[in-house]
Amino acid sequence: MSNKDNINLEKLPKHIAIIMDGNGRWAKGFGKFRIFGHHNGVTAVRETAEAAAELGLKFLTLYAFSTENWSRPQKEVDALMELLVETIKKETPTLQKNNIKLTTIGNLDDLPKGCQEQLLETIEATKTNNGLTMVLALSYSSKWDILNAIKSIANEVKSGTINPEDINDQLIDKHLSTNGMPNPELMIRTSGEQRISNFLLWELAYAELYFTPKLWPDFNKTDLYDAILDYQQRERRFGKTSEQLNNN
Ligand code: IPE
Ligand code: IPE
Ligand code: MG
Repeated sequence: MSNKDNINLEKLPKHIAIIMDGNGRWAKGFGKFRIFGHHNGVTAVRETAEAAAELGLKFLTLYAFSTENWSRPQKEVDALMELLVETIKKETPTLQKNNIKLTTIGNLDDLPKGCQEQLLETIEATKTNNGLTMVLALSYSSKWDILNAIKSIANEVKSGTINPEDINDQLIDKHLSTNGMPNPELMIRTSGEQRISNFLLWELAYAELYFTPKLWPDFNKTDLYDAILDYQQRERRFGKTSEQLNNN
């Protein structure tokens, strides 16, 4: 019996977010350049997306490139951008086969033209798929997103469309690039680092956090099932007491 069979499908999270970390260290372990790790990380993306789609998950957000990652050596950034175009193009049939819809969050304007075009093409090609929605966080940082939301809300107040009293949780949700998606119930980070690195700061307010020492290229379906099983054993109290939850 695989650990997949132990998953309670009734209690599946709707949205899992993943910080795919450790590609560089994985490559180093083989005495190779960092980009070798990024290339092998693609297999883990495919495995994870397939597993998520098979389980019936609704949203999978993958942190692929942060705003801060632009500060990496130019050679690595260029190679990552090239890999991105290549992968999206090559994987479009896999997305179609698994009924996966591709979307993105982040500042796409920052990406090279070729990347933007390939992304738009695949987003368009998969837009009617209604299984899993795979969200790629590209040139994304949560502070960037929150800052934009604040600016746009401030403009609405300034123009008189809304009053400051109208600003509430839902309005902020609406102005974030994650608008329309449920908040992730589970956030996974690979590679043993235990930090959020500017990822979904608002949306992760009550997410369960799961850290695994596995490096991203080694992450596979079984690892995803393990994370979900761990999540399903937790008691999500949302500020209440355990007794309150058990009496209801
Ligand atoms: C994650 O792996 C991929 C990206 C951030 C693009 P890293 O490249 O951060 O790998 P490590 O953390 O240096 O091992
Ligand atoms: C976070 O990984 C960003 C992505 C996985 C895309 P990093 O490797 O860039 O994070 P830090 O800088 O070590 O926190
Ligand atoms: Mg890293």
